[in-house]
Amino acid sequence: MDTGAAMISDRYQKLLRQTFLDYQHHDTFFDNPLIVERAKGLHYWDVEGRRYFDAIAGVYAATLGHGHPRVIEAIRLQLEKLSFAPPMHGTADVTLEFVDRISAVTPGTLNFVKSFGGGSESVEAALKFARQYFRQTDRPGKFKFISRYHGYHGATFGAMAASGTGPRKSAFEPGPTGFLKVFAPNHYRDDFSDWEQCNRFAARQFEDVIVHEDPSTVAGVILEPVSNTGGVITPTQEYFQILREICDRYDVLLIFDEIITGWGRTGEMFAAQTYDVIPDMICSGKGLSSGTMPLGAMMARRDMAECFQQADKDNFAHGHTYAGHPVGCAAGIAVVEQIIEDRLDKRAGELGERLAARLEKLKRHGVVREVRGKGLLRGVELVRDTESNEPFPELGLALKKTALANGLLLRVDPSWFAVGPALIIDEAGIDEMCDLIDRSLVDALATVRG
Ligand SMILES: Cc1ncc(COP(=O)(O)O)c(C=O)c1O
Repeated sequence: MDTGAAMISDRYQKLLRQTFLDYQHHDTFFDNPLIVERAKGLHYWDVEGRRYFDAIAGVYAATLGHGHPRVIEAIRLQLEKLSFAPPMHGTADVTLEFVDRISAVTPGTLNFVKSFGGGSESVEAALKFARQYFRQTDRPGKFKFISRYHGYHGATFGAMAASGTGPRKSAFEPGPTGFLKVFAPNHYRDDFSDWEQCNRFAARQFEDVIVHEDPSTVAGVILEPVSNTGGVITPTQEYFQILREICDRYDVLLIFDEIITGWGRTGEMFAAQTYDVIPDMICSGKGLSSGTMPLGAMMARRDMAECFQQADKDNFAHGHTYAGHPVGCAAGIAVVEQIIEDRLDKRAGELGERLAARLEKLKRHGVVREVRGKGLLRGVELVRDTESNEPFPELGLALKKTALANGLLLRVDPSWFAVGPALIIDEAGIDEMCDLIDRSLVDALATVRG
């Protein structure tokens, strides 16, 4: 097996010290280095020419696989025609076409659409939109947001404040006020004999917090329908029904962060549809451009937007130089059209069953507690043994290395790992990926057991 650090040339080591890697220490990276040079479809190649099976679509981004010709062509044509549009004193035709295509597939009346430069920007915009919406509709006291521990909503201040990932934010506190947290259902799972009951209990935590905070101060609940951080937590459908009822009862907005789950990944265009619940707002990113362009979008109920458009009301006091970017929008249109044409959302649902069944087989190693997820977003929880169910972070850390050595990219964190391949994967691709996962897990077990 490669030792890792030896693979990085002196030049790259030096350059790496002149930048930073997202959410990881240089030394950790030097231990598991990956410097990619090119990618196509389901694979990356590193600077040494080694090929990797990309089991996480970059990071849930390359929906159509890497370098999809239709998206590249759309970008090329748009670059030649119009590569930048005036952000404050105009917009572009393609930006409006993007609004049309996106609003045609959003659930309910969420047809107010604004594109941004990524997921965090979309979350940030949604939080600000919600607060200003309440101000402009005579409920100025509503400013608090409730989200969940372990949830991740982005790196900027508002999105970070809504995130429940302690180590990713404690260095920057205090953050903005008015961000409260509850636990996701799996926090209570050992207290209940069945998952349904556990979910009912967890959903009602939102109501408790809203009531105790005073509903007239609470603006919204923001959460990922299937939460990646925390280990691909997959609540029941009833959890969302209860949550929807609670939000309606207390005049609180339900905001879905679908930055990972959007664009077909869970078997429908949005996880909102997979769970049959209509939120008031959706934040999107990642897979919307299939990883080609920095792109996100915020979608809101049409009637919410009206309070920014009446003559006597203020406009939404928000904007970015690269919001509504023509090239990003062209990429987004191509991606969404391709998903629709090839029914990739439905395909993700079907292939997800095969993936789940294959991952279940990992239980034969005696270190898997649960396989969770929806569609082509699946997580596997690693434990020391299935009697104690104690987390097994050393195994995850070893898996990170053995997977790389076997030419496989996974998301490992470290007592669970997740897979979320491009939606263009087929049955053979699922089998190849799962064989690599199995082999890497066996190698990782051999490492930790000496
Ligand atoms: C669920 C979720 N929300 C928000 C974000 C932030 O998106 P971005 O990194 O594009 O700013 C991420 C990124 O990983 C995410 O997974």
